[in-house]
Amino acid sequence: MALDAPTEVADLARHARNVVVLTGAGMSAESGVPTFRDAQTGLWEQYDATALATPRAWNADPDLVWAWYQWRSALVRRAAPNAGHRALADWSRGADVRIVTQNVDDLHERAGSNVVAHLHGSLFAPRCDRCGQPFDQIDPPDEPAERTPPPRCDSCGGAARPGVVWFGEALPEEPWERALAAIANADLVVVVGTSGVVYPAAGLPSLAREAGVPTIEINPDVTDLTEQVDHIWRTTAARGLPILAACAN
Ligand code: OAD
Repeated sequence: MALDAPTEVADLARHARNVVVLTGAGMSAESGVPTFRDAQTGLWEQYDATALATPRAWNADPDLVWAWYQWRSALVRRAAPNAGHRALADWSRGADVRIVTQNVDDLHERAGSNVVAHLHGSLFAPRCDRCGQPFDQIDPPDEPAERTPPPRCDSCGGAARPGVVWFGEALPEEPWERALAAIANADLVVVVGTSGVVYPAAGLPSLAREAGVPTIEINPDVTDLTEQVDHIWRTTAARGLPILAACAN
């Protein structure tokens, strides 16, 4: 792992005034939140996260899918922002740093960043799967279970569903528009901790590049976006971002 930022990456961070940071699950990995494409552990070892995050799984077994999201919510509540989240918040002392995230956790907000778009929704915004009415905060159970029936809606009797975007569902329009506007105004786009396989979010770095905005990938591994960005730094979020923020401030 590199200890210093590559020179061109450091120079871009030093001079950028309007930065957009596109984050994915790898951003929260060092906070102890497993990524989507990593193997699951414990109770969820036998399940594939990408298969649970689907309308098909919900329709087949809502109690299973609800329990999995409740477990993830409890995990995120116990987790703390890592050095990478904190560095992005620090960076905003010296530049306008806007976060566009695919993550459904709230670790960027808790670190103090300006999150302009949660492209895939939030773990903490359940709504009725029939009438769409938002539910109040639902506390995860103390003891995780493999199946938990979702609470029922007071208005129509439908089930509470996680306020996240599942595969095959449309992205919420307003966050998507805000993401596009942020990219249009950016002079640097940093892509952190995403495999770049889920569209339309994965199309944002290309849009930036086509508009002439320099793009940097921060990820320990090669991704589907590696060929689409201008600069690559093979490091983790918690190692790389504090160094980048220090270049800027
Ligand atoms: P993935 O799980 O697909 O990819 C995680 C990425 O993070 C990989 O490229 C890893 O190499 C990288 N990574 C792992 N540890 C890291 C670290 N410490 N620092 C930096 N990078 C690290 O997650 P996403 O790309 O976010 O959508 O997945 C995209 C979407 O697919 C998710 O928002 C979710 C998922 O299914 C929906 O649920 C609709």
